[in-house]
Amino acid sequence: MTNPSLLILAGDGIGPEVMTEVRKVIAWLGDKRDLTFDVTEDLVGGAAYDVHGTPLADETLEKAQAADAVLLGAVGGPKYDTLDFSVKPERGLLKLRKEMDLFANLRPAQCFDALADFSSLKRDVVAGLDVMIVRELTSGIYFGEPRGITTEGNERVGINTQRYTESEIDRVARSAFELARRRDNKVCSMEKANVMESGILWREVVQEVHDKDYPDVELSHMYADAGAMQLVRAPKQFDVIVTDNLFGDLLSDAAAMLTGSLGMLPSASLGAPMENGRPKALYEPVHGSAPDIAGEGKANPCACILSLAMALRYSFDEGDEATRIETAVEKVLADGVRTADLMQSGDGTPATTSEMGDAVIAALEASL
Ligand code: IPM
Ligand code: MG
Repeated sequence: MTNPSLLILAGDGIGPEVMTEVRKVIAWLGDKRDLTFDVTEDLVGGAAYDVHGTPLADETLEKAQAADAVLLGAVGGPKYDTLDFSVKPERGLLKLRKEMDLFANLRPAQCFDALADFSSLKRDVVAGLDVMIVRELTSGIYFGEPRGITTEGNERVGINTQRYTESEIDRVARSAFELARRRDNKVCSMEKANVMESGILWREVVQEVHDKDYPDVELSHMYADAGAMQLVRAPKQFDVIVTDNLFGDLLSDAAAMLTGSLGMLPSASLGAPMENGRPKALYEPVHGSAPDIAGEGKANPCACILSLAMALRYSFDEGDEATRIETAVEKVLADGVRTADLMQSGDGTPATTSEMGDAVIAALEASL
């Protein structure tokens, strides 16, 4: 039996720092849980641009396609702001999503009890919150054609196209219903069917998939603006939310903040099953490259560590080990170990990135 393979793309900004802590957890799993991965490393984003002149080299994409799972840190930074659009760090990430056809982006927004007071909302509104946003990730306005900036008469026109095929809606709806069955069995689908034809089709196809194959799941539909409002009014009414690429981008940032810190949230981007039965998969923290604190040891590694936990659950069928990591992170927070993003002024000295990682390892040890 060969070990499962993991491609690490640490990327830019705080990406490399948080990934250093993830490597500690990977090493621990090998030492103590007999769970060894064949790890390879490569460049993505600005780090890849600096070396190859492109944010994703062809050979890196090939490695990603061949890996059992990809773990990504973050991409982007002010240094690259003035680059041409086609070689910006973000294009590396978008190309990975598109080429690997990672159509279902799972973004859990879970409120750890120890952090409920960090939410911008009142504790009782968010305590115990556990919402899963399923964002369509490979189509919609992010990729639709025509696109570009042209000239009409004497002024410039910026154009992007929202476009969804039935099969694109069908497959992401199925992912949402399947997930709901393993949770509270509720799906809320969000679009703007009141103003967009693509929204009308979205609503119809989600309903058809439901009626045909998932009648046991409770399904509701909401306009995305009303959904945003409900998400901050009473977020606990939701179990699984399924929505398109752009609305999912916005709604998942809003949902993330409900939980107290962007520094805590992992994500999984899943595609169709490969020959070995595992889905094509990329795991990454929801937070970005945070250039303002990069290199200072201030970043919270939890979102990236929890992304590894999602990889164990969704790619490697190691749900128990995923839960072990999640419980360890929860214990560290409950014990009061906090990086700066999880502290209020006057709270004392924050833990560094590496101290936080060490605390997670200590909690993992204690779990044996
Ligand atoms: C996200 C990010 C990306 C997106 C950027 C970095 C391209 O905001 O993953 O949510 O817009 O999808
Ligand atoms: Mg985003």
